[in-house]
Amino acid sequence: MSIAIMCSGGDCAGMNPAIKTFVERALEFKQKPYFIYDGLEGLIDNNIKLASHKDVSGIIHRGGTIIRSSRSKRFFEPKWRKIAYENLKMLGIDKIVILGGDGSFRALEKFYEEFKVSFAGIPSTIDNDIFGTDYCLGVDTALNVIRISIDQIRDTASSFKRAFVIETMGRSCGYLALISAVTSGAEVCIIPELEYDLKSLEHKLKGNRNYILCVVSEGSKATTKIANWLEKDIGMQSRVTILGHTQRGGNPTVYDRLMAFEFARLAVDRLIKNEKTDEVVVYKDGKFEFVKIKYINSEKIEIDSKLLELADRMVK
Ligand code: F6P
Repeated sequence: MSIAIMCSGGDCAGMNPAIKTFVERALEFKQKPYFIYDGLEGLIDNNIKLASHKDVSGIIHRGGTIIRSSRSKRFFEPKWRKIAYENLKMLGIDKIVILGGDGSFRALEKFYEEFKVSFAGIPSTIDNDIFGTDYCLGVDTALNVIRISIDQIRDTASSFKRAFVIETMGRSCGYLALISAVTSGAEVCIIPELEYDLKSLEHKLKGNRNYILCVVSEGSKATTKIANWLEKDIGMQSRVTILGHTQRGGNPTVYDRLMAFEFARLAVDRLIKNEKTDEVVVYKDGKFEFVKIKYINSEKIEIDSKLLELADRMVK
């Protein structure tokens, strides 16, 4: 039989090194490796092609994903899932490695229940918001993109006695903002997980800073509010930088490449050695392990309380 790989949901750095490992490992096991292009949309539209060593040469350093991704609404309708299954059956594909986030894993859980197509998920999202794993592919690269931007913003902020609001991504999880604020020495950190006290921050910061850096997570929806607060209550000229999709791009860091190799190798091995698999490779407490998709999808992630404590000085 054959094995396929696909990306689903937001792309991230590290996907390409994972795709390269997938092809090499599958060929080692004498399996036919297939690429499902354009995520779940491509699975429905039968955009599935046999891959070779040639397809994955020279991609290790590239951000994004050479097989592209998508956010599919159609896949949540049974009729499209049936078509997707028929496409796989025609090519003899009975195992899928999927790089994605919890939404994508939920889709594959449903698919497994209906058609018993084995899959191994690789947590891949810069948001680092998948329950059951300490690390998702792409996070280290995104954090480094943010670090470079904040370091550069500090240069101009300090040259002008200005306050800056830097908005990071994170649909509902403040992980990127938290780690970036801590490691950049920001004065303020606003994330959905933590309450903040602007009066107390005003008392601390007003009149005794040459410049101020505030890192605000997209999910807190407070970017404009903080910029206005800096102007009106703190009395400093403020500017806003929304880092947006720059955080999703960039060459994967060494750490993301190594994580990609290991995630992908383990996923392929698991699928080949086990008859039926509906699991995700997670990285927990310094170790890789497999957990059932049901477990991953059973709860919402919470940021470690020890990490949250690091932001204490930046919320009040
Ligand atoms: O992939 C995660 C993420 O980048 C979130 O941080 C962000 O909220 C969302 O995706 C943006 O999605 P899109 O690229 O579809 O606009």
